[in-house]
Amino acid sequence: MNPTPSYEFDSVEHTISRLAEVGYLADRRLATTVYLLTRLIKPVLLEGPAGVGKTELAHALADSTGRRVVRLQCYEGQDESRALYEWDYGKQMLYTQMLREKIGDIVESSTGIAEAIEQIGSHDDVFFSERFLSSRPLLEAIRSEAPVVLLVDEIDRADEALEAVLLEVLAEGQISIPEIGTFVARHAPYVVLTSNNTRDLSAALKRRCLHLFLDYPDADRELQIIQSKGTGLGDAVAEHLVQVVRGLRELDLRKPPSISEAIDWARTLAVLGISELGTAELDETLSVVLKYDKDLARAREQLAALVQGEIPEPASVPAQVDAATEHAPADREGRTVRSAKDHPGRHGPGTYGERSQPAVDGQPARPRVSTGQGERSFTSKFRRRG
Ligand SMILES: Nc1ncnc2c1ncn2[C@@H]1O[C@H](COP(=O)(O)OP(=O)(O)O)[C@@H](O)[C@H]1O
Ligand SMILES: [Mg+2]
Repeated sequence: MNPTPSYEFDSVEHTISRLAEVGYLADRRLATTVYLLTRLIKPVLLEGPAGVGKTELAHALADSTGRRVVRLQCYEGQDESRALYEWDYGKQMLYTQMLREKIGDIVESSTGIAEAIEQIGSHDDVFFSERFLSSRPLLEAIRSEAPVVLLVDEIDRADEALEAVLLEVLAEGQISIPEIGTFVARHAPYVVLTSNNTRDLSAALKRRCLHLFLDYPDADRELQIIQSKGTGLGDAVAEHLVQVVRGLRELDLRKPPSISEAIDWARTLAVLGISELGTAELDETLSVVLKYDKDLARAREQLAALVQGEIPEPASVPAQVDAATEHAPADREGRTVRSAKDHPGRHGPGTYGERSQPAVDGQPARPRVSTGQGERSFTSKFRRRG
């Protein structure tokens, strides 16, 4: 593989400014990872909640380096033929139909079926050649004439078998097709993998990647991002909006608002001509950022605190160590709530095809219940504010 020397970034600062030129505001930590990606030609794995700019980073990297994005969008049940390559069965059939006479000539001299099959079989390589090969994203990235950014998006949605397929491609930078041979990348792709963290990825995959956890940005950066999108919202109200969004993230919501939702909210407020954010304005437009009834109800209970920029108490942080996770909340902030949910195996046995718990003394094991469960309704009664 030949790393492409042109278009590379000179330094971390250069990476920050080039990404900013194409509308992506990266902090130093992220820019360092991207800089290393382009220098070490190592894949980057970005893990983090939805809507924090993981996918967008791949596009920004492509725009700022003059590369095209080849995207593999992962989903459950995806098999390798959808990720690597497929034989174009329809085209093979069409050619067979058109060549019927020729095939007739080939088998004409045969005395039986076995011999006829042998004779046709000797022409296998014609039908299993590049002409009949349909490249899927991974092969497309490897075969591309021009350098590309390979985006493997939401890898956590795919099954672990697909991770194994990926490993080969990432480690070798090549794809072997038994009938044809090995394709080696002309230009090493810049590989960006993203995960919304719904399951744990294999250690082998993580080992091969530069790994970065991308969380919600700090208030200044989030404000900059919103302002950079030309939402039409005034600076003062945008600043207030960022505070409110950050307050919402401290509530234990099923789906906390992401950067993209904050941007949508800013646009909505601008269209409505809102120049000051009070409880009424908040109440009327909350549904732009919160998509679940329970989240809306929870936020509505805290409207006054949110508008004042106070951090409401998360309702469901257990006061003691959660026995199932052995995760003791060090403080009562939303970040702790999120990280407390983010531990290996948090979806329990069986969710991702793991074997369920073994039977004990002939009795099927019962699901473990954390000591924190059931406290929700009680802790929610005691709030710091509101
Ligand atoms: N650092 C950033 N700079 C500029 N825009 C950003 C940034 N982070 C997020 N965004 C905005 O948030 C939107 C959602 O980001 P996206 O990459 O789709 O999230 P994810 O892939 O993490 O779910 C993007 O379309 C972009 O408008
Ligand atoms: Mg995404």
